[in-house]
Amino acid sequence: MQLYRLGLLVASFVSCIGAQSTFSPARPPAIPLAVRSPYLSTWLNVGSDGGNGGYLAGQWPVFWENQITGWAGMIRVDGNTYTWMGLPGSKTVNQTAFEYTSTRSMFTMNVENKLEMKITFLSPVTPTDLKRQSLVFSYINVEVSSLDGQKHDVQVYADISAEWVSGDRNAIAEWEYGTTDGVAYHKVHRQTQLAFTEKNQQGEWGNWYWATDDSKGTTHQSGADTDVRGQFARNGKLTNGGDTNFRAISSSWPVFGFSSDLGSVDSSPVSKLFSLGLTQDEAIQYEGASQYAPVPSLWKSYFATELAALSFFHKDYTESSGLASSLDSRVAQDSIATAGQDYLTVTSLSVRQAFGATQLCGTHDKMYMFLKEISSNGNMNTVDVIFPAYPIFLYTNPELLKLVLTPLLENQEAGKYPNDYSIHDLGSSYPNATGHSDGSDEKMPLEECGNMLIMSLAYVQKSGDSDFLNDHYTLLKQWTSYLVEDSLYPANQISTDDFAGPLANQTNLALKGMIGIQAMAVIANQTGNTADAADYSRIAKDYITQWQDLAIAKGANPPRTTLSYGDTASHGMFSPLFRAHETLLTISAGLLYNLFADAQLELNFVPQSVYQMQSDFYPTVANKYGVPLDTRHIYTKGDWECFAAAVSSVDTRTMFIKDLATWINETPTNRALTDLYDTVSGDYPQNTFVARPVMGGCFAPILVR
Ligand SMILES: *[C@@H]1O[C@H](CO)[C@@H](O)[C@H](O)[C@H]1NC(C)=O
Ligand SMILES: *[C@@H]1O[C@H](CO)[C@@H](O)[C@H](O)[C@H]1NC(C)=O
Ligand SMILES: *[C@@H]1O[C@H](CO)[C@@H](O)[C@H](O)[C@H]1NC(C)=O
Ligand SMILES: *[C@@H]1O[C@H](CO)[C@@H](O)[C@H](O)[C@H]1NC(C)=O
Repeated sequence: MQLYRLGLLVASFVSCIGAQSTFSPARPPAIPLAVRSPYLSTWLNVGSDGGNGGYLAGQWPVFWENQITGWAGMIRVDGNTYTWMGLPGSKTVNQTAFEYTSTRSMFTMNVENKLEMKITFLSPVTPTDLKRQSLVFSYINVEVSSLDGQKHDVQVYADISAEWVSGDRNAIAEWEYGTTDGVAYHKVHRQTQLAFTEKNQQGEWGNWYWATDDSKGTTHQSGADTDVRGQFARNGKLTNGGDTNFRAISSSWPVFGFSSDLGSVDSSPVSKLFSLGLTQDEAIQYEGASQYAPVPSLWKSYFATELAALSFFHKDYTESSGLASSLDSRVAQDSIATAGQDYLTVTSLSVRQAFGATQLCGTHDKMYMFLKEISSNGNMNTVDVIFPAYPIFLYTNPELLKLVLTPLLENQEAGKYPNDYSIHDLGSSYPNATGHSDGSDEKMPLEECGNMLIMSLAYVQKSGDSDFLNDHYTLLKQWTSYLVEDSLYPANQISTDDFAGPLANQTNLALKGMIGIQAMAVIANQTGNTADAADYSRIAKDYITQWQDLAIAKGANPPRTTLSYGDTASHGMFSPLFRAHETLLTISAGLLYNLFADAQLELNFVPQSVYQMQSDFYPTVANKYGVPLDTRHIYTKGDWECFAAAVSSVDTRTMFIKDLATWINETPTNRALTDLYDTVSGDYPQNTFVARPVMGGCFAPILVR
């Protein structure tokens, strides 16, 4: 009912702008525009919960937290002005197509059947090229060509507002215009820098650069939005003037524009490139082996100045595009070979999002990757957020998995965490990696010990870096002791799915612990600790044998692992919506996603019969948009569905992937790809998770293909 109504709203909007756009490979809930780091993260809301269906013109781009990041684009064709991005007020161009790849969002626009525009947002992801990956910058390329065989007089305009520099709209912005090495730029920042501080999740320090070629026919202007945009709309060029009345972001909204006269345009494409990015000398504060201190951003190790970094980035478009295309095709080929086009719909939407939660820091000798638990609570390097994301790091460059684990290991090896189990995260509030010297972090002991062991072995198997295991053996062994104690009968505790509540004897959590112990047996073997290896291997075998008796509801039809041991009659706790699935009313169950680790590490530890049983079970409880996470709720997690899909039969895997791709295309959610959604309505359940790096987990099936 509600969907129908909202559908009509979108339809009437579309008819009022005059044209229908195609969306390929899907119409995602939100379109990534500039997504490179926790602070350079701007999207176009799409889903019917509040988005406009995916049209670049007619709606303001937003930061992931949903506040507007003013970004406007206009074009003048033979003296008539149209908007192609945002909502600056003029008539809009007609969008005819949208397409995304792993690194690009591309819009095709038609202007009065006279001109075609191809607008490409490229947020480069270069996992094996850390120099480029260290730059928090993104491109827009605007290409125009004549459609009707005539020549047209064309000027292109684009600006950013000061909304990019702070989440506090009352903060005072300051700005300047300059040129460097053939690049024209607006530099904008908070007048009072608040280092390592966030407001509404935006960073309150560093400098923003908005740049283009300093070529003939390019003009610039800063000033009130209506003045600068009005100037372009009327005259097709800017004044080259600067407004020096530094003021609050929301006071006569200062904007920073460029206009470019492309002259007389015929059918050969002409293009204009813009770069946008953030430079912070120090991006993180970190309690590692030494004292709590700021850590330099990694780009500082490659570039002497901000302007050198800006100029390198802006002039690197050809090379950067080529690297992006290589990654796009690698992801496309591997995704299609693994599970077809629907699978590529999911993987290619997740790449920028997963990398967009990361920040490279340190120096050539000592590099780190920090990761923000975006939207769920802003923790730093949360172990059970790195775990769902680890498939994308392992797939694109295993070194990155090491760089994101290193800060956790350094902190705990320096004796800065008092508990004998693994820390949950490295600090409650990004960008402050304060650690938890009082040991009072969110307690997920079994979850995190298992995750750390599994990911350590995963990294070493892919990289061949066996020193890593020797270096960290003591701590890995300490965590294994915890698993030996708690895995067989897990105490009442939460798992990574903390929103689902605590539970004792969780089957899936126990399995993770046991796989962790077996992973340690392999680690011990590989490091010559043969006595430990034999010991852990024996314990793990004993546990997994007992686990099968405790965890499997053999009499159920079809059989499955239960949610917790012996939980075969948990009536009353189920949503009425579950009544469609009678079997679930009497026997609790859930996605046994931790099984993925056994396959990924090639441990051959869990019997194949368990894989087969779960794979046969999932289709019997699938809803329209997927298989519920467990019988307590009808929501699911996209990342865990991909983990489960990875270790299912071809048919079941196809079902998971198809439902997830369908959901992406149809969900009414309108914010950056959520990993938590209702499998019946497709909407958010109680929590609104957005833009979380965990969607990197969709690369799980590729790793075990
Ligand atoms: C958009 O398409 C509509 C319907 O075809 C047309 O009336 C309108 O002039 C077009 N606008 C532009 C800017 O091309
Ligand atoms: C990080 O720590 C600084 C003090 O060093 C503080 O001013 C800032 O508010 C903290 N940031 C967050 C996000 O809590
Ligand atoms: C866990 O399961 C075992 C075996 O069924 C049972 O004896 C124990 O009471 C359970 N623990 C809790 C806390 O329910
Ligand atoms: C240890 O390595 C040996 C030789 O490669 C192998 O036979 C044995 O199964 C391994 N043990 C474990 C626990 O991995």
